[in-house]
Amino acid sequence: MKRYEDLSPSLRCIMTPGPVEVDPRVLRAMSFPVLGQFDPEFTGIMNETMEMLRELFVTDNQWAFPVDGTSRSGIEAAMVSLIAPGDRVLIPIFGRFGHLLHEIAERCGAEVLTLEKEWGCVFDPEEVIAAMKSFKPDIVAIVHGETSTGRVQPLAGIGRACREQDALLIVDAVATIGGVPVETDAWLLDAVIGGTQKCLSIPSGMAPVTYNARAEAKLLKRKRVERGLRTGEVQVEALDFVRSNYFDLGMLQDYWSPQRLNHHTEMTSMLYALREGLRLVLEEGLEARHARHALHEEALVAGLTAMGLKLYGDPQSKLTVVTCVLIPEGVDGEAVRTMLLERFGIEIASSFGPLKGRIWRIGTMGFSCRENNVLRLLGALEGALLRHGHAVPAGLGVQAALDVYDAKVR
Ligand SMILES: Cc1ncc(COP(=O)(O)O)c(C=O)c1O
Repeated sequence: MKRYEDLSPSLRCIMTPGPVEVDPRVLRAMSFPVLGQFDPEFTGIMNETMEMLRELFVTDNQWAFPVDGTSRSGIEAAMVSLIAPGDRVLIPIFGRFGHLLHEIAERCGAEVLTLEKEWGCVFDPEEVIAAMKSFKPDIVAIVHGETSTGRVQPLAGIGRACREQDALLIVDAVATIGGVPVETDAWLLDAVIGGTQKCLSIPSGMAPVTYNARAEAKLLKRKRVERGLRTGEVQVEALDFVRSNYFDLGMLQDYWSPQRLNHHTEMTSMLYALREGLRLVLEEGLEARHARHALHEEALVAGLTAMGLKLYGDPQSKLTVVTCVLIPEGVDGEAVRTMLLERFGIEIASSFGPLKGRIWRIGTMGFSCRENNVLRLLGALEGALLRHGHAVPAGLGVQAALDVYDAKVR
């Protein structure tokens, strides 16, 4: 019989745009005993998690809860619940995850209009608003922080335009939540999806979502209660009922409401993880957390620049928590990444589609976003580049980052 060894994953320094290192307090919370899903102790934890999510999303929305599944489960739940077949959906695309929104909207049977921006840039909100005026969408779906290109899309004005045209605005804030400001109410966002495995430093497996009363009104019209849960009252069912059971937000909100109408079996250990991760965010404070992410970005960028490396993309729209570096001419990007992982225990990311082989993507997110990680990465990257025959000015990268830290922190 084959013998399987004890699991002993290596301790890595993870500097990718997710998943990133998990805070030890979150890991500890995941090892706590499982409670039954209707145990008042557990439903109390569900309620506290909702309260903390409202603070994270900066919203007074009634609904803020996690969808169980990876981040795209939250995106899919929002889209499948809010997009009825035949709805007109406008999707501005500036990287891989905009294409994901397109893909999901098509599967919802929407009539989709996409706007495409050259990768490395973002839209002027006025371009989106102009397209809304001619296309008259029912829904606008857009990515806030695009990890594939390291860009952040300004959302100012798009929410207001959606209100004026009675469209709903769905925002993928998977990469930005907990790392850079996401102001659900102030920016008039109707549905927002966050991610756990990035700036929240929780493992992948839950997708926090929030949506307002405008969004709720639409999804309740399309809600369908599962047959085995019906109480005998006559069900008036919309013809365009939500075509997914798992992702029907109307049913999910019943489960998260005092009614506790059973849907799936809540992921106990993941919920403990989310609760602890949110507690960490709120203890640090949103503003302080955003400032921390900005500081380590500054040190990283100073170090990379001092090494003579060039950053990819329009600097105006750089996403704080993802730094994209052009792989220097003649350097085998994958060989450098492999060396970083195997010899230094550091992981950085490659890229997708048109950027495959052209850039490295370095994340400074959540628990991974700290001084010793940034310094370690800069030193290791210098070593790996020299080892691959690329001349970098020895020592300058780490010194430039140390200068930032010495000036700002000490
Ligand atoms: C901006 C963005 N949206 C959506 C996703 C999809 O998330 P998941 O892989 O957790 O389903 C990712 C994942 O990297 C992402 O970066």
